[in-house]
Amino acid sequence: MKKLVVLTGSGISAESGFKTFRESNGLWENYEVNKVATPEGWSENQELVLDFYNQLRKKLQEAEPNEGHKGLVELEKYFEVQIITQNIDNLHERAGSKHVLHLHGELMKARSTVDEQLVYDINGWELKLGDKCEKGSQLRPHIVWFGEAVPNMIQAIRITQGADIFAIIGTSLVVYPAAGLLDYVPLKIPIFLVDPNDVEIPLHRNITLIHEKAGKGVQTLMQKIINLPLNKS
Ligand code: APR
Repeated sequence: MKKLVVLTGSGISAESGFKTFRESNGLWENYEVNKVATPEGWSENQELVLDFYNQLRKKLQEAEPNEGHKGLVELEKYFEVQIITQNIDNLHERAGSKHVLHLHGELMKARSTVDEQLVYDINGWELKLGDKCEKGSQLRPHIVWFGEAVPNMIQAIRITQGADIFAIIGTSLVVYPAAGLLDYVPLKIPIFLVDPNDVEIPLHRNITLIHEKAGKGVQTLMQKIINLPLNKS
């Protein structure tokens, strides 16, 4: 089977009721990024950071995967689909996608603050001050904050280099290193971009634009790629 690699961002979860980050009324308009999504913010006020992610987790538990997530599952009938997501939600997994790599961490997980290998599932929505790892340190959200390394980037690059088709869905492509993945898309393979708005693409390549929301856009993508002759180099 041919490999379809899909890079997703918050836009794919918008129709599930999740706010994107940078659109007007997006998440970063209502919160100070430095206070809730940086190591400095965590050092300053752990309670505020925990509460921010607790509220998001509560929202996630009420949300359902939408047609965009489901369409990517349907594409597994035709392709080996690998999703690389910047999203911290688990809507791809809940829709049934088999291969999902999270670049920016996972909202439903917590990790130790003394040993980053110690990662735990969170049951329910709340992570509290005083919740500790087995080594006795406070647990933090398992999120890659601004200023932190992106450990899954190396794997994401390897996956991207093996793509036969590459699709980008619902991301403004302004956050690095994730946006830099495009530099690793093999030459001559087809690239598609699904987004209802204009996106500035940091790549000089011929890209097929699908100006639709993810729910409809993934269906359009499917129609375009199912019978595509592939010419990889
Ligand atoms: N379907 C598809 N795309 C959509 C939809 C929709 N229904 N609604 C909005 N979009 C698009 C917007 O047009 C925009 O291009 O989704 C994109 C969202 O961009 P951002 O808000 O910048 O989110 P994202 O690219 O995922 O952010 C990257 O930044 O804040 C950090 O760690 C956070 O992972 C996040 C990263």
